Amino acid sequence: MNLENIKKRLDEMLPKGRVSHSLNVANCAVRLSEIYNCDKDKAYLAGIIHDCAKYLELSEVEDYINKYEIYLDELEEDNLALSHSIIGSYIATYEFEIEDEDVINSVKYHTTGRENMSLLEKIIYIADLIEEGRKFPQAETLRKLTYGGELDKALLTSFNNTIKFVIDNEQLIHPRTVSARNYLMKETL
Ligand SMILES: [Fe+2]
Ligand SMILES: [Fe+2]
Repeated sequence: MNLENIKKRLDEMLPKGRVSHSLNVANCAVRLSEIYNCDKDKAYLAGIIHDCAKYLELSEVEDYINKYEIYLDELEEDNLALSHSIIGSYIATYEFEIEDEDVINSVKYHTTGRENMSLLEKIIYIADLIEEGRKFPQAETLRKLTYGGELDKALLTSFNNTIKFVIDNEQLIHPRTVSARNYLMKETL
């Protein structure tokens, strides 16, 4: 599917606000690709599609899981806030016909992160948080780090924030986020 058709599909799948968030992520990811020497076309594509599964109806979630034999772990099951990235990676592969593994993985791991992330995965993960529409308290700190050449530090800060947040709110932590955090912590020591 070409970019124009993917965009048309996204307009059908997402509310206006989410389409504009996705465009912001794509443009932010392109800007970061210039700073960190990543492929701008892949960054743009991954950015616009990353939330494609965020607004699926429950029945659609079921359909995709059955159709593509998608495995969701116990934290992702019945939790679209986590599973939209996994399901989105299958939509990217089978509906948008994207073959690039790195683009697909950037969608797949944009909510939790994982250990040993590729540059593109890191860019999409952080662009999702710092795009210009994001107003949460730590966004500005993350922007300064990311645009200041400290991508790994920005990611580590974000993983730490997430882990602190879920503890403070007595929520479950996804083990991939812990792995992502520990991996980066060891790398940046
Ligand atoms: Fe998302
Ligand atoms: Fe997003």
